[in-house]
Parts: sequence; structure tokens; C-alpha cells
Amino acid sequence: MPMQTVRTTPIEGQKPGTSGLRKKTAVFRLPHFLENYVQSIFDGIGGIEGKTLVVGGDGRFFNDDAIQIILRMASANGAVRCIVGQDGILSTPAASHLIRLLESDGGLILSASHNPGGPNADFGLKYNGKNGGPASEAITDKIFARTQTIDCYKIVAADNIDLSTLGTLHIEGMAVDIVDPVSDYAALMETIFDFDKIRALFAGGFTMCFDAMHAVTGPYAHTILEDMLGADKGTVINGLPRSDFGNGHPDPNPIWAKELMDTMYSGAAPDFGAASDGDGDRNMIVGPGTYITPSDSLALLTFKAHLAPAYRAGLSGVARSMPTSRAVDRVAEGLGIPCFETPTGWKFFGNLLDAGKVTLCGEESAGTGSDHVREKDGLWAVLLWLNILAETKTSVAGLMTDLWATYGRCYYSRLDYENVDSDKATQLFGSLRAKLDGLSGQNFGDLEVENADEFEYLDPVDGSTSAGQGFRVSFIGQSRAVFRLSGTGTSGATIRIYLEQLQTDANHLDDDPTQVLHPVRDAALELSDLAAITGRTKPDVIT
Ligand code: G6P
Ligand code: ZN
Repeated sequence: MPMQTVRTTPIEGQKPGTSGLRKKTAVFRLPHFLENYVQSIFDGIGGIEGKTLVVGGDGRFFNDDAIQIILRMASANGAVRCIVGQDGILSTPAASHLIRLLESDGGLILSASHNPGGPNADFGLKYNGKNGGPASEAITDKIFARTQTIDCYKIVAADNIDLSTLGTLHIEGMAVDIVDPVSDYAALMETIFDFDKIRALFAGGFTMCFDAMHAVTGPYAHTILEDMLGADKGTVINGLPRSDFGNGHPDPNPIWAKELMDTMYSGAAPDFGAASDGDGDRNMIVGPGTYITPSDSLALLTFKAHLAPAYRAGLSGVARSMPTSRAVDRVAEGLGIPCFETPTGWKFFGNLLDAGKVTLCGEESAGTGSDHVREKDGLWAVLLWLNILAETKTSVAGLMTDLWATYGRCYYSRLDYENVDSDKATQLFGSLRAKLDGLSGQNFGDLEVENADEFEYLDPVDGSTSAGQGFRVSFIGQSRAVFRLSGTGTSGATIRIYLEQLQTDANHLDDDPTQVLHPVRDAALELSDLAAITGRTKPDVIT
């Protein structure tokens, strides 16, 4: 019989984090590990009998083999159809779009986002629901609960199918449609932006460098930027997806996108630089000699979105994750639209987008997006910047000057302490919690605490609450420090400290961010006792 029911037992460590389950690839390849998790997803969402799913990933090592297993399990569990990107490729925003466009019942996205790929690196899997967005906590809790009781999974015994040719195949009774991963997404972008204007910009000699970081956006960027918009060939660098991302770290920030940064800070810099991550949902924006923080990018896009056709009528509202700087709040106030503060994780934007309460949203972790899909979207952000540049005929630096002159500048930086012993991280957050109530009025370094709390989110759409979402400490003088534990690490704990200082003095809009943030950094380190508790004197990464 091709349909098999395989006995299994629960496997530890299958709790989904900020964005699905992320583990070392070797863990995902352990016997039954993937199968247990996939069956738990299917069971956790109430079964997939008669359903249609979208399946695809960022092409990292194990993508193909995992997809073959998922398809055989989907068939055995009674799905009628799976839509799969050719060669198993779908960027996360393109998968979100396909789920919505085809009115499917959700999708499985294989990616560990910006984490490295390969047999010794990371792998991940997440379920997105019918709206195209990451599953809510209520659903991921059910999936996790199922991983703890699972006793069998269903799979069809069959050969691998050929994912490289477009068309429809079958695994027992289930159809598998293999589709072009780029075309529907590119068509969507054409409905949002003024492609003629952007084409004219490039035709007029505007130059750009897009670093696909050997990850999934390569084919998307070649098609959209070079073929459709007429950017010079060679605009897209590292455009061939590789299963190990060229041995790199496909994270679009100044540290990992060094090749792009070197180009943009050289004498021969093009007019505009951008990069995207492993699965295509993050973005980095950089002008000649000017790195734009993700928080500032969100503020700028909010400020100027009306210049793109899809947003001409204005925005219903905006949202940012709690640690993201408050630059966008000021723009929203200026535009007279609401601004929501959510916990970290794109899933929290889903309800606001579905309810039409927000049009744009973004996070400090290099994610920006809108209501066109239910994921953040790297190329979309790049295209919105291009549309704005085409309309304003200004430079990247010129746009930022305009933003800061109008709303002030939120200087911003994030310190990451990686692979901290989990017990010590727990101790640090425990002691912060214990002293939180007494912090107001206390001095740390040169700063006095104005107020401090632990962030708890009340979802204004469904009334659900999410507690324990990080600590916010505001100081007199418009500065703020936020403390949070990363939810995406695959080993040990990562402590993140986010620093912010608002400056509205017109003579101080171009200062050195490190200098400006010095006092709030010192205060944050002193009040958290970080060095004493963790033994760390320096962050591993500063962005
Ligand atoms: C993923 C999610 C983002 C989130 C980020 C935070 O990329 O898709 O929405 O902002 O994780 O990661 P962290 O490591 O800070 O929990
Ligand atoms: Zn990503």
C-alpha cells in the first residue's frame, strides 16, 4: 500500500519561535523530526483533507528533500492540491501572495530566513494561514501541543517527483502544480508601482546595485529590476541562488552585506543600493555613503508612500514592532493617521492588516511591508523607494534630510549579545523585571529614567493579549532603551538592546549616531548589569 501510517513518539524542541520552527539542519534531518513537525502542523490546523496548500522555500540545503517529504505527507493526509514553486523555490512574500491569489488554504514555507544554510547551518519551516500570513499564536500553540502528543504520521511511499518542469503531476490522488515562482509576484508589483516612471528613471542614467546575497531574490530581482524596469545588466549582484548562500550569511545589514556596503561607500557608488535576505522578506537600503536604518526607512516610506499609485489615496494607519524606533510614530502623527505598536514578529501585523487598520508596517529587523501580502517584502520596499526616488528626483540623502527636517531624527542602534548562556540571560531578565517598578526617577550615567515597563500587547482586533514582550525604559530627554530576548536563535540565548535618541535641533541632524547614543548605551548597560551577569563586555553585532 503506498499510504503508510508510521508510528512515532514526540520529539523535544519543536516549539515554533518568532517565525516558525528553526533548527540546525542536522536536527531537521534526524529520523522523524521533519515528519513529526509536518504532521503536527496538519493536525494542529484541523487536518488538510480536501485542502489546497502552497509549498516552497528559499532554496537552502535540504529544501528539495524536505519538499518531497511534505508533498508525500500532504497527499497521505488527503490534500487535493499543492502548488509548488519551480525547483521548490518561492520567496516568502511570493508564497504569501500565491496563497492569497489562489485562495488556497495556507502554505508551508521552508526557510530559516537570514540564517546561513547548509548541512551544518540552519533550516526552518513555518505554516502560513489562508490570509497568507504567519500563523497566529493560537495556531502555533496548537501545533506545538500536537508535537507533544503525536504518535503517528501519514506518508505515501512514492518516488521523488520532478520539481524542475512547469506543469501538473500527481502523488496518488493529489495534484501538484509546479508554477513559475516569479511571474505572479512580478505582476503584483506592477499593479502597486509606477513601472513607467521607474523605467524612465533608469533610462535617464540612474544607477543601482542590488545584492541578492546568493539567496532567493536573485531570480525575482533579475526579472523585475533588469528585464522589466531596464536597470543595467549587472545591477543585481550575487543573483544566483545557492544552497549555502555562497557560504555567506544572507542577512541584509551593514555587517553581512559588506560587498554592497563597500560599493556604496566607495567613490564609484551607484545612486541607490539595496539587499535582501535568504527568503526575500527583509531589505536593506543604502544611498551613496548613507546607510538607512530600517526604522528610518519605515518612517520615510510612510512619509512618501502617497507617491506610488497603490497608496495615492493615503494610508489607513501604520504599525511598528515595539523595539522599532518611534520615527514612524511622528510621521503618522503628522499625517493624522493611527500608529500601532506590536510585539516583535510579523504575525502580529496580520490582524491589523486584515481589518484594514494599517496599510504599511515595519520592524527594526529590516522588515517593511504593506497590505499587498501578509509578510514583509524586501523587493517591494526596494520598489517603493525607487518609485519615490523617481517621483521626487531627489537623492537618498536628500529624502532623509527632508524627513529629519520635518519630523526630527531618531538616532538608533541595536546591540546583540549572541550565544549567551540561557540561565544567565534568564537571570538578567528576571532581575530587570524585579527592579522595573522602582526605576522611575533613578539616574544611570547621565540619564534619569522617566518610566519603565514590560510590554504586553492587547490586539485591538481580536482582543488577545501577548505578555512578556520585552522591557521598555524611557529616559528624560527623549531617549529610550529596550531589552528583549531574540526568538529566532538556534543556539543559546541572544540578548538584544535597542537604543534610541530623538533629536529635533536642526543643527544636530547629521551627528555621529554612536556618539549621540553613548549616554543611553551606558545607562542601559548600567541598569541591566549586563557585564556582571553575562560576563560580556562587548556586543557581538552592532547594527
Ligand atoms: C523574524 C520575523 C520578524 C522578526 C524577527 C525578530 O525575522 O519574521 O518579524 O522581527 O524574526 O527576530 P528576533 O531574533 O529579534 O526575535
Ligand atoms: Zn527573512
